[in-house]
Amino acid sequence: MPPLAHELASPQQLETPDTLHTKEWLRRYQRIRQASERLCQPLSTEDYVIQSMDDVSPPKWHLAHVTWFFEAFLLAPFQPRYRPLDPVYDHLFNSYYETHGVPFPRPHRGTLSRPTVADVYRYRAHVDAAMAELLESPPPANAGEIVRRVELGLHHEQQHQELLLMDIKHILAQNPLCPAYRDDLVSPPEETPGDLAWLEHAAGIREIGHDLQTGFAYDNEGPVHRQFLEAFQLANRPVTNAEFLAFIEDGGYTRPALWLSDGWQQVGQAGWQAPLYWVKREEGWYHYTLGGLRPVDPQAPVVHVSFFEADAYACWAGARLPSEAEWEVAARDASMGGNFVESDHLQPVAAAARGSAAAQLFGDVWEWTGSAYRPYPGFRALPGTLGEYNGKFMSGQMVLRGGCCATPSDHIRPTYRNFFPPHARWAFSGFRLAREA
Ligand SMILES: [Fe+2]
Repeated sequence: MPPLAHELASPQQLETPDTLHTKEWLRRYQRIRQASERLCQPLSTEDYVIQSMDDVSPPKWHLAHVTWFFEAFLLAPFQPRYRPLDPVYDHLFNSYYETHGVPFPRPHRGTLSRPTVADVYRYRAHVDAAMAELLESPPPANAGEIVRRVELGLHHEQQHQELLLMDIKHILAQNPLCPAYRDDLVSPPEETPGDLAWLEHAAGIREIGHDLQTGFAYDNEGPVHRQFLEAFQLANRPVTNAEFLAFIEDGGYTRPALWLSDGWQQVGQAGWQAPLYWVKREEGWYHYTLGGLRPVDPQAPVVHVSFFEADAYACWAGARLPSEAEWEVAARDASMGGNFVESDHLQPVAAAARGSAAAQLFGDVWEWTGSAYRPYPGFRALPGTLGEYNGKFMSGQMVLRGGCCATPSDHIRPTYRNFFPPHARWAFSGFRLAREA
């Protein structure tokens, strides 16, 4: 029987620009989804379920939560034929979207022995099959919004890929066996970073922020706006382990005058004496890396320090942390190449600073800035539930810039604003210094 005219004309069967576009997005979707699973291949089943502190989520939960994002924000609204694998997952794997439903409490994620790891992989396959169907023949009226949400969902998944590595590191580091996540990581190059140099920046009115139209950006990166900057100097490279060790050996962790009050309280309560993962042995300092316990490389950027430690070091060094506007002005014309997750070091490495140009602005370590995470003038959160993605966290956190050795290289921009509370140290966080001109 020949097809009816309306079937021939059905927009779902025609190769419109939107459907071609969504097929491109399907390929990208599959590539990024597979990357998450590749990151988990070295794990044993037992590794998938541990929650080593409230801030850490079990790897199994990450894999399910990023899947839930596509289910909740794409399949539920745009795929009428979609049936959830298990309706309770909508509660278990909702992270913090209160206007969507009641999220399962974050500190209890490690109590979920069920669904099992195998169940979570089945959930991923179930959602991936439905997403493939949606992207192969999207309802034309919604194709534009579907593409926008898929793009956001994929950046969300890439954010969680970095969180996975942070959390896996924290989980494995609790174990006195110091198990390596991988023993085949690419060895760091032997480089000497060279002397610290100060790069001059003139005073003036500068534009920062993303226009939110040219390529992808999170809502918190825009809009473009002006800030007046006094003349300043920015270090040509991040602070190294050797430099931070000098701060430790000069009694940095025992001198209250160097510390913000909240930071000093934290030093006392948590007993901080060195960056997270550092261990002192007779022969010197070691630190836990994703390749196991290794001697601290004096030439590499210091990592796993809190904002408080970065600020105390800057005070000790007679300098300060750059504001995020200063950082962005310096980074705007810098090369975005660097040590990202694809370099396969999974730790910051020494790089030769080139004197007149800022090195390692991108990759290696997220750099703490002295700026509180607050909305830019004219900030508008995304409409609806997705407006909860960034805006509601704009209190009590500081901005970090530039990505790190665990960030996917296509998931960073000069305008990207990462944020953590000032005491947090389990991110790959370091810093560089600034000072008045
Ligand atoms: Fe998330």
